[in-house]
Amino acid sequence: MSSSPLPALPSDALARIDALLAPGRRVLLGLAGAPGSGKSTLAEALCAHYGPRAQGLPMDGFHLAQAELQRLGRAARKGAPDTFDAQGYVALLARVRAQGPLDGPVYAPAFRREIEEPVAGAIPIHAQAQLIVTEGNYLLFDTEGWAGVRPLLDACWYVAGDEDLRRARLVARHRQFGRSAEAAEAWVAGTDEPNAVRIAATRERADHVFCWSG
Ligand SMILES: Nc1ncnc2c1ncn2[C@@H]1O[C@H](COP(=O)(O)OP(=O)(O)O)[C@@H](O)[C@H]1O
Ligand SMILES: [Mg+2]
Repeated sequence: MSSSPLPALPSDALARIDALLAPGRRVLLGLAGAPGSGKSTLAEALCAHYGPRAQGLPMDGFHLAQAELQRLGRAARKGAPDTFDAQGYVALLARVRAQGPLDGPVYAPAFRREIEEPVAGAIPIHAQAQLIVTEGNYLLFDTEGWAGVRPLLDACWYVAGDEDLRRARLVARHRQFGRSAEAAEAWVAGTDEPNAVRIAATRERADHVFCWSG
């Protein structure tokens, strides 16, 4: 959740979503992109724009628990494709697609940065919500269990912008959640960047590239 005011949404992006919503059926919109590219911010801005008609479903909630990452020996590269429960995410998207208008909520997990852990049952997805905005790094991947994501989405956008700004925001976010300046720079260079390179290679699979102007 960002504390700063939400950026304005370009009208062409809203027009694309309005067209998806026009038939009246539930729509799953995916937002993929590198760490710090503004996926969560865009999802938040879209949910603010559409009100109760829209809900966010972050892929981040499917981070494996820290203890499981340690057991697997993957804690040092938390955030890499194999540090998430990809199949759990796919199964949840399928449930959200199949949710009928009279069904109860489908619960999604949330990732809590303050404790660096996912929390189950944190996000109730209501049957009445027509637009589900799901966002995360690996929505357009086709390896390591992620291939099942794309077919469950009505559209998937790639979120792009200025790369220096993205890295600077990422360092700032790591610092905000307790890392020193050196540790934040090291984590971005050593862990986030290799992921960002692999994510950028999936950009061509997107239906649309959303570019932040500022
Ligand atoms: N268009 C924007 N204008 C201002 N700040 C932004 C914008 N996009 C992202 N940010 C800021 O950059 C940081 C990373 O954005 P975030 O949405 O968390 O990225 P992601 O979810 O892709 O990792 C956050 O601190 C967010 O507030
Ligand atoms: Mg995010």
